[in-house]
Amino acid sequence: MNIEIMTLFPDMVMNGINTSITGRAIKNGLISVNATNIRDFSLSKHGQVDDYPYGGGAGMVMMPEPIDRCYHDIIKRLGYDKDGYKNGKRIRCIYMSPQGRTFNQGIAKELSEEEDIIILCGHYEGVDQRILDMIVTDEISIGDYVLTGGELAAMVITDAVSRLVPGVLNNDDSAVYESFHSGLLEYPQYTRPAEYKGVKVPDVILSGDHKKVLEWRHEESLKNTRLKRPDLLESREGEDNAWEGSIKY
Ligand code: ADE
Repeated sequence: MNIEIMTLFPDMVMNGINTSITGRAIKNGLISVNATNIRDFSLSKHGQVDDYPYGGGAGMVMMPEPIDRCYHDIIKRLGYDKDGYKNGKRIRCIYMSPQGRTFNQGIAKELSEEEDIIILCGHYEGVDQRILDMIVTDEISIGDYVLTGGELAAMVITDAVSRLVPGVLNNDDSAVYESFHSGLLEYPQYTRPAEYKGVKVPDVILSGDHKKVLEWRHEESLKNTRLKRPDLLESREGEDNAWEGSIKY
């Protein structure tokens, strides 16, 4: 999978993404992540990328041309035509914005199945609407708050999507069993020592009975979800059996 990020701050994005699990996945060739500086596609002598808004108002607006040229450079390199199509399919170009649909695990899964995606990070007070209408296929928010730019949001999407690409996580199961995959939150985890400051790991975990451990974990997941995110239970009617079916005894 190939993730292309259009940004004014490529170092910010790549410094984050080159770290830890995503960094290892890039080194191992399981994903590729490229951050391209929109400023490099400015036609002005001083690398101008923003200008005052027509009609007045506060702040600056990102100009359409540098973004347009940056986008076309990327899609050409990836083998798409000038309208963003390859083999009859249009490349997904995601604009990070608080106005978009709220990101969740389902969207992460959907995006992880794409061959290529482009993420556009906005800055200043916004982006000229014409270029958004021309190239953007998806508008995604990472939550109901306003960031200074789309970079952190693009890093969130890149991280959540990358870890769903097969092979990126060491243990395939860890992507399956954890929070949200089954619509439930995670169960509590323990490691050595078996007793810490007088607090013991629950007996069942140490029992060696794998079936019992799985059952206990499922119960704890349900309990945790009921307590912390009851809204998740309401939206997953009938899915409990699906989870049972995925247990490997
Ligand atoms: N850009 C600014 N705020 C944002 C948010 N909440 N989500 C995605 N992109 C953003």
